[in-house]
Amino acid sequence: MVSNSFDVKPIAGALGAEIHGIDLSKTLDDVTFGRIHQALLDHCVIFFRDQEITPDQQLEFATRWGDVHFHPHIKGLPERPEVFEIVKDKDDVHTLGGDWHTDQMFTETPVRATMLYAKEVPPQGGDTLFANAYLAYETLSDGMKDMLDGLFTYNTYNMNKRRAAAMQVNDIEEKPVEAEHPLIRTHAETGRKAVYISYAGITRNIVGMTEAESAPILEYLRGHMTRPEFTCRFRWEEGSLAMWDNRCVQHLAINDYHGHRRVMHRITVAGERTH
Ligand code: SIN
Repeated sequence: MVSNSFDVKPIAGALGAEIHGIDLSKTLDDVTFGRIHQALLDHCVIFFRDQEITPDQQLEFATRWGDVHFHPHIKGLPERPEVFEIVKDKDDVHTLGGDWHTDQMFTETPVRATMLYAKEVPPQGGDTLFANAYLAYETLSDGMKDMLDGLFTYNTYNMNKRRAAAMQVNDIEEKPVEAEHPLIRTHAETGRKAVYISYAGITRNIVGMTEAESAPILEYLRGHMTRPEFTCRFRWEEGSLAMWDNRCVQHLAINDYHGHRRVMHRITVAGERTH
């Protein structure tokens, strides 16, 4: 059991902080873990550098936050099914997570937190963008907030074999999953409200409206939420680990490193029902 003193250094005005002084290959004591937990609540996404961890050690850290949330379509590593590998090879065109989204919003209990560990990174490119969904809500006009509060969205996802092959995902289930969630979500731990949507392929419409009627509202929110001043950008190195809170964060993997390989290990932590 290791007790650490560590620094938390914000990387942008809106969200995101690097944590220095933690070795995630060791079991952390409760006080240290509690401070890391608070850092995640305060900064929405936290980053660790120079970590050398095995899938078992990544899983040990992940399960300090809660149970694992298994992706309904994508299978994990054969030896460690809780960990799924995101690989983009040098000749691949598509990337997983290349649109702004929040993880597994198409399930009834969407992912609370995601932990992504960099195994292999391109010499340049392949950064990840994050956006603060609290700020997106808090900067809306009172009229817009009144209109959105109380609305629900319909979310679905159907990974077919063609799409899966393009993204180098093997062994998929083709059954679609779907869920309704509040458009404005109240965070269970901080009590703050956040805009809660994904890209148009997942968040299809506002419940009670057609897709065409919903689109102008949802597109406005997507553009508003990802204004540069609400975002941060993380430059990966081998051994970097990012952890974000999907209840108040959107993210996007930038697909700008053709000709290079990028390999990440991802674990998602189960969340609560949203309503
Ligand atoms: C994801 O959307 O979970 C992947 C993000 C990334 O690969 O940067």
